Amino acid sequence: MVTSSTYPLSYLTAAGPAARPVLLLNWGLITISSIVILIVAALIIGAIFRHRTQSEETDAPMSEGGATSWITIGVGISIVPLFASMVWMLLVLRSLREPDDPTMLRIDVTAQMFWWSFHYDDDPSGPAPLKGFTTANEIHIPVGRPVHLRVTSADVIHSFWVPKLVGRMDMIPGQINETWLQADRPGLYRGQCGEFCGLEHAGMGFDVIAETPDDYLAWRRHQLEAPDQTPALQSAMSLFDKNCGSCHAVRGTMAAAPIAPDLSHVASRLRIGSGVLANTEASLRLWLKDPDAVKPGTSMPRPALSEDTLSAIISYVDSLK
Ligand code: CUA
Repeated sequence: MVTSSTYPLSYLTAAGPAARPVLLLNWGLITISSIVILIVAALIIGAIFRHRTQSEETDAPMSEGGATSWITIGVGISIVPLFASMVWMLLVLRSLREPDDPTMLRIDVTAQMFWWSFHYDDDPSGPAPLKGFTTANEIHIPVGRPVHLRVTSADVIHSFWVPKLVGRMDMIPGQINETWLQADRPGLYRGQCGEFCGLEHAGMGFDVIAETPDDYLAWRRHQLEAPDQTPALQSAMSLFDKNCGSCHAVRGTMAAAPIAPDLSHVASRLRIGSGVLANTEASLRLWLKDPDAVKPGTSMPRPALSEDTLSAIISYVDSLK
């Protein structure tokens, strides 16, 4: 079962070129700050003892000129690490410039309380052009290929953040900010909203699955396929369309509303509820019975469904592999 401890939200290691310089800077600043704190603490302790010994010998306080020269020396010394840190930070900012790569994958990200919509642009770079599509709360990316992200928000300010792959980028309503990320090796990386945005800010997560180019291509092609519409699922599908289709979309079916997360192939995702539950039948049932109990503040209404309808909808959603 996928839980948050399987792939912790840690920024103590990096897995891509857009995160590595920041990680180094992070450790560097922690080291510099620690050394400064130790030196200052040692000087303060030394000064206290020196002052006591002097006071016992003579009652005369330090001359004004002596105090001023110490302040000058202190300020002078402090400027050196501060200036060095600033130069390092500017160099890191410059190194984070997006690579000039025409094969870059392009994804538009829209945040809303409290989930993520991802729209993959058409991808003409391969031997066969790939059509764009929309998905939610989980993205797949090929390793070694940079991904350009255009991020915005549909309501309040959120922040796009995948600690191991890229630092935060504000997502502001009415404005498009740009950033990029790249994964060096296949793996599962947690994304998280990095700006307090309301009751479920902490429950606003997403998953980045980095995989080999072939696996990524297979996933992407599968995303464009319409779901199985076996006769056995027909009545379950119409119950879904009736109860869920005015907010959610499933590509290739009547359900096409863009208000809530796109549920095309949702059964193949790792988690549901924007990262709050592992994607199992039991958690889907829990979620559908009372979304607000699982995720207080969610916009998902509590659907008034009979047990039979609920089971039918769950079997339909589970079929959306
Ligand atoms: Cu969205 Cu915090």
